[in-house]
Amino acid sequence: MKQKITYAGINRVVENDDDMNSLLDISIANQITHLHECGGHGRCTTCRVRILEGINNLNPKNQLEQETSYARKWDPSIRLACQSYPKGDVTLQRLIWSMGEVNQLQKELSPIGKAEERPIAILFCDLRNYTNLSSNNLNYDIAFLLNKFYTALGDPILMNNGIIYQYVGDEIIGVFGTTGGTRDKICKDAIRAGLGMHYALTHLNNTELKDLDIKLDSGIGINFGKAYIGHLGHPTHKQFSVIGDPVNVASRIQEQTKVTQSKILISKTVYNSIPKDTLEIGETYVKELKGKEEPAELFELLGFKEMDMQLELQASLPIMMENPEEFASIFYEKVFEIDPEAKSLFRNNMTDQGRLLTHMLGGIIYSLSRPEHLVTGLQRLGENHVKYGVQATHYPVVKEAMLYTINKTLGESNTEKCMTAWNSALDFVMEVMKGKETPS
Ligand code: HEM
Ligand code: HEM
Ligand code: FES
Repeated sequence: MKQKITYAGINRVVENDDDMNSLLDISIANQITHLHECGGHGRCTTCRVRILEGINNLNPKNQLEQETSYARKWDPSIRLACQSYPKGDVTLQRLIWSMGEVNQLQKELSPIGKAEERPIAILFCDLRNYTNLSSNNLNYDIAFLLNKFYTALGDPILMNNGIIYQYVGDEIIGVFGTTGGTRDKICKDAIRAGLGMHYALTHLNNTELKDLDIKLDSGIGINFGKAYIGHLGHPTHKQFSVIGDPVNVASRIQEQTKVTQSKILISKTVYNSIPKDTLEIGETYVKELKGKEEPAELFELLGFKEMDMQLELQASLPIMMENPEEFASIFYEKVFEIDPEAKSLFRNNMTDQGRLLTHMLGGIIYSLSRPEHLVTGLQRLGENHVKYGVQATHYPVVKEAMLYTINKTLGESNTEKCMTAWNSALDFVMEVMKGKETPS
């Protein structure tokens, strides 16, 4: 029997007559953008939809979906599209639109009305010369610039499994590990975010802000410890909150970056969480922090000792993607130059395909901070490529064209480290996608 699936918001109605298709399969078959980080395995929850009509025309929730809904306190109208099979007409609304939103979802897993103690890392980033920016450039589109700014500095938090907790005045606060994880992973995420924010600011200073003759500076303090998290507040307005001594200490550490003229300072608890010889440390300080009896040992963070693949990818992606259409057109031109026959594999218009490609790259970079989801998704993506007629020999072609495009779009910002990182990342993605099924 034919079913009508209606997408509220974009006003599209599509038909389906195959019982084996989930709502996610139906979106994909109709090229409706629908996030699905884990490739439809019911693990990531990014495919969630609100069912506006026809909830009884879906299969009941399986155990996995029941557990997910319970843990995240969803109301019954929310379903995982990848686990929902329509038997009749359904009207739905997609709920997650960008990879950036995905990490904010961690807030759902924190308790409501009470607070629970969890080990987390806290990052305070203070922007300097910022007031300068708002008073001297009234003619310029300040809102535009500020948004650009918040995006550039917020993305490194999100790309590393963190939550943007608050903007307070000139400060951005990120928290890491609210849904668990090992101590070294939580601290490494925070460290990578701090270094990423520093890179992002340097890039803004050298591009957009240079034309305005402004140079912004930042100071970042990172701490690790047990804090209370939960949704607290008036019964009608409960907010995600993080409270406790480690939060205050992180703020104090940030203040010390001014005194010590350093970009990033980490506490001893952070330093001790990371395996020895991983971090490049500059000066070490012993400082009195306001409200603390014992002086604290602080370490100036300069970077990772060895090339860190994720940091390199994260820092280069926004530069590569400043003009996504250009990226896609250089890439496909190169693919078809190396292998003209590959052109016959593509059914869709190349503009859509290019949009998809750039989104995918972004998606992969975000997902690398949660590789457990990524692998299942990539395996399925690879199986689909076999159906498109893709063979093992196509992969090196795509890789070469991709590296060529990355190099070209990065221009002067490119480094050898960065190319090495992309090389390894593409090898990883393609090995998983090729699996055993791809014909050679
Ligand atoms: C890093 C490796 C790759 C990634 C991440 C990737 C990603 C994607 C995605 C997300 C789609 C759309 C989803 C879908 O329809 O299943 C797609 C479609 C496609 N890809 Fe790839 N792909 C990769 C490598 C390749 C290679 C090596 C080829 C061979 C030339 C290729 C050819 C195609 C074709 C022909 C389609 C279908 C386009 C259409 O329907 O017109 N891809 N790819
Ligand atoms: C079974 C494998 C997969 C298939 C068939 C598939 C297919 C698709 C299709 C058809 C779209 C909509 C494209 C459009 O906007 O027109 C899409 C979007 C997207 N996919 Fe996948 N994909 C697969 C795996 C993955 C994986 C593993 C990731 C994450 C690493 C991913 C991340 C994304 C993202 C981020 C978008 C959103 C793009 C946008 O906002 O337009 N996909 N995918
Ligand atoms: S839970 Fe549905 S795609 Fe991950």
